[in-house]
Amino acid sequence: MKYISLGKTGLKVSCIWLGTWQFGSGSWGYGKSYSEKDCVEAIIASLEAGVNVIDTAEVYGAGVSEQIIGKTLKEYGDDVLVATKVAPHHLSYGEVLKACERSLKRLGVRTIDLYQIHFPNPLIPISQTMKAMEKLVKDGKIMHIGVSNFSLKQLVKAREALKSEDIVSNQVRYNLIQREIEKELYPYCVKEKITILAYSPLAQGVLTGRYGPQNLPRDIIRKINPLFGRRFLSKAQPLFDALKKLAEKYGATPGQIALSWITSRDENVAIAGAKNREQATINAAAGKIVLTPEEVSKLSELSDKAKPDFVDAMNVIPRLLGF
Ligand SMILES: NC(=O)c1ccc[n+]([C@@H]2O[C@H](COP(=O)([O-])OP(=O)(O)OC[C@H]3O[C@@H](n4cnc5c(N)ncnc54)[C@H](OP(=O)(O)O)[C@@H]3O)[C@@H](O)[C@H]2O)c1
Repeated sequence: MKYISLGKTGLKVSCIWLGTWQFGSGSWGYGKSYSEKDCVEAIIASLEAGVNVIDTAEVYGAGVSEQIIGKTLKEYGDDVLVATKVAPHHLSYGEVLKACERSLKRLGVRTIDLYQIHFPNPLIPISQTMKAMEKLVKDGKIMHIGVSNFSLKQLVKAREALKSEDIVSNQVRYNLIQREIEKELYPYCVKEKITILAYSPLAQGVLTGRYGPQNLPRDIIRKINPLFGRRFLSKAQPLFDALKKLAEKYGATPGQIALSWITSRDENVAIAGAKNREQATINAAAGKIVLTPEEVSKLSELSDKAKPDFVDAMNVIPRLLGF
């Protein structure tokens, strides 16, 4: 497993983190196709494979994700770091403090290692939120401050609002198909040593090569994701073929190659969501693969050709609303 420094903190974190939006989330099929036991096993398998950070959020499974992590770490996780997020409707000064207390309780820890603002909220001044975040650091309730889904402009503003701390990470959607951050956010973060935490690094499963026009996922989350549309899946076939070919070379899976396309460069982290032991083990093992710069470029070229041509609601709606 490759380890990198989180922001400028010097804290060593694995380049693959376990993502746990799936834990407790009925919209991903929790309770039907996988259970709490599977989630616990996914955590244990990740730790065994050298993953040392688990990513969650107060909203995942309405708190169930944090609870499952808390219960499991009590038994297995002495050296594990936890990254959680405060929801955008809890960003006023008082609400941040209260949300943090609730997360600490569910997680069963004294300190949250990385506390992230899940989405920006234009209705609440960022200075107010950051004042609360700095108080939490001062009180020892959180170790580091991160943001998520922040544009470059929002990130710069958020940093300016901090007095004694800095932002160590920005958790954003980034994968071989959805690369919008590369334009301005990515170079800024690399230059400023703000770690890019790439979410949906497998494009919610598209890049594992498991799904095709004849085999589509049935859960609500992916029914509304246009990447699972027949048109896009056909267009991206050359990219999927290249992932498969490289996977053969490395004795890996296409999904592992897609993860290593992110982690082979700079000091990036890929947060891979998993529903069970097997997926978590496979994803963690991607942290050992280092693609050559030529292989990274070749995949990027093929990804340019597969660029989706539909309107990306996930990206456009928040921008229209001024988020
Ligand atoms: N900050 C934010 O706003 C935000 C947004 C989204 C996600 N996140 C975080 O990032 C994490 C990852 O993102 P994501 O869950 O959206 O997408 P992802 O990691 O790209 O995809 C996860 C899905 O891919 C499939 N999968 C995972 N590993 C696999 C493997 N080894 N082989 C085959 N299939 C595999 C699983 O679904 P199936 O088995 O059903 O195919 C899994 O649910 C989340 O859990 C969460 O922690 C944050």
